[in-house]
Parts: sequence; structure tokens; C-alpha cells
Amino acid sequence: MPLTGKTIVVTGAASGIGAATAALVKSQGATVIAVDRNKPSETYDRFEQVDLMDKAAIDDLIARLIPLKIDGLANIAGLPPTRPAADVVAVNLVALKHLTLSLVDSMADGASIVNLASLAGFGWENEVPKILASEGLDFDGVAAFCDANDITKENSYFFAKQALVAWTIANRWTWRDRGIRMNAVSPGPVDTPILGDFLETLGERAEEDMRIMDRPGNADDIAPVVAFLLSDAAGWLRGANLPVDGGMKSHILANESGLEKGE
Ligand SMILES: NC(=O)c1ccc[n+]([C@@H]2O[C@H](COP(=O)([O-])OP(=O)(O)OC[C@H]3O[C@@H](n4cnc5c(N)ncnc54)[C@H](O)[C@@H]3O)[C@@H](O)[C@H]2O)c1
Repeated sequence: MPLTGKTIVVTGAASGIGAATAALVKSQGATVIAVDRNKPSETYDRFEQVDLMDKAAIDDLIARLIPLKIDGLANIAGLPPTRPAADVVAVNLVALKHLTLSLVDSMADGASIVNLASLAGFGWENEVPKILASEGLDFDGVAAFCDANDITKENSYFFAKQALVAWTIANRWTWRDRGIRMNAVSPGPVDTPILGDFLETLGERAEEDMRIMDRPGNADDIAPVVAFLLSDAAGWLRGANLPVDGGMKSHILANESGLEKGE
């Protein structure tokens, strides 16, 4: 089995994409440490009930994880765009970076880090100044950062995912000497408990997307891609951002680039 012998931490393991990923990597032989603020319905080798909005609780978790020699970290926990802007930036970006950067030195050589980004992270290139300004952002500073940078309930989810894609790319070779790699997965709309939040936030644009797409994704469309990135078979993928979106990103690119001119 591709993940036999690996110890893998999955955040967001109680629901949706995180739950599907934790179950799949377990079935592929991994020892799974599930992290979530809610208890998963499935039993894993270990469950850590942690609120990723609480820096002290994350630090306690880190202290418990450091001795374990982790081979994979799937950063999947996330809040939907209907939540307050500062909470979305705190959980989807600041907590994820803090957990990752605090664990990476103690991870096993050859370890894999996978960040659950989103199609919402598309267009990060247009937000580089704001993304650079968010480097080193700590939990205490999130609310002031959002105020100062016009990050509101309407755009906080987009900003957090754009910054996450950019961070993944920026760290393509940071731990290359130890064979540790980081990649991202960017789903389009996925039928999980938060799909309704996305449709509510995106309004007409989401309705148009859903008309164009043959169907929304489901968690089992995304989990195998995360599991692949966690496996040694993905050893030469570094700083990649894989769209898993039923072709939506290609559709946008084809339209924006004029590729379909004359059709
Ligand atoms: N569903 C979609 O359409 C979609 C599309 C693109 C990306 N994503 C991303 O995929 C990831 C998983 O989302 P999902 O659709 O499976 O949603 P979900 O709500 O089913 O799962 C999210 C999980 O994260 C956990 N979580 C949230 N805040 C937490 C906190 N403060 N502390 C600890 N755990 C916390 C929740 O308890 C839940 O178990 C998210 O990062 C989301 O942004 C989802």
C-alpha cells in the first residue's frame, strides 16, 4: 500500500474533504493523526481535538506532535467565506502556516506537506503586495491587518486562499536539502457541508459556474489527489498547485486567453 509506514497528520478530519482524506490515507496503510475541533465519526490512530483559531491550543498540539516524526501533513481544515473576515484569515492562513512552520523541522526527511487551497486562490498574482504584507502575520494582528488591507467578509476567503497558493509556490525549495516538499490542491465547488456558504457568497457567479459544470465535485474526487501528493510517487512535485475542479480552471483560462476566439 502506498502509504504504509507513514505517519500522517490530517487537519479538518471530522468533515468533508478532510474526512475523506483521513479515511483514504488510513486505507492506504498510513498511521493517521486526525485533528479537528469536532470529533470525527471514524476512529483513527489518534484524534487531537484542537481549535485552530486558538494559538495556545495549536502550540500544545505542536508539542505533542514533534516527537512523532511525521511523514505527511495535510492542511485541510478551513472556514467558509460566510464567516467573519478575521476568523477566515486566522484559520485558513495564519493557523495553517504556524502549524506547518512549527512542525517542519521535526518532520521526517522526505516528508510531504499538502495545502488545501481552492479555485478561489486563482489570480493570486494580482494580490502580491497584500500577500507579501501578510508574511509573518500573527494571530493577534489579523483583525488590524484585515482593516488596513481592505480584507472584508466578501474577499477574505479569496485572499486567504490566494496567499496560501503563493506561499506554497514561494516554498517550492525551502526544505529541498531534506527532501521535504510542499504542494497545494485547488478544488472547484465540492459538495460538502460548506458548499452552500460558497454559493451564498458568490451569488450569481456561482450559479453561472454551476450551470457550466457537469456537476459539483465530491470529497472523494479530492482525497485521492491529496493522498497521491502525500505518497513517494509524487516525489518530484514541488510548489505545485493542482486544480481538481472538473475543468473549471482550464475553462477560465481558455476564455481569458482568447484560445476560444472564433468559436
Ligand atoms: N467545499 C468546497 O467547495 C471547497 C472548495 C475549495 C476548497 N475547499 C477547502 O477544502 C477544505 C475542507 O473544506 P470542506 O469543504 O471539506 O468543509 P467542511 O466544513 O466539511 O470541513 C472543514 C473541517 O475543518 C474543521 N475546522 C474548521 N475550522 C476549524 C478550527 N478553527 N479548528 C479546527 N478545525 C476546524 C471543521 O470542523 C471541519 O471538520 C477547506 O480548507 C476549504 O476551504 C472547499
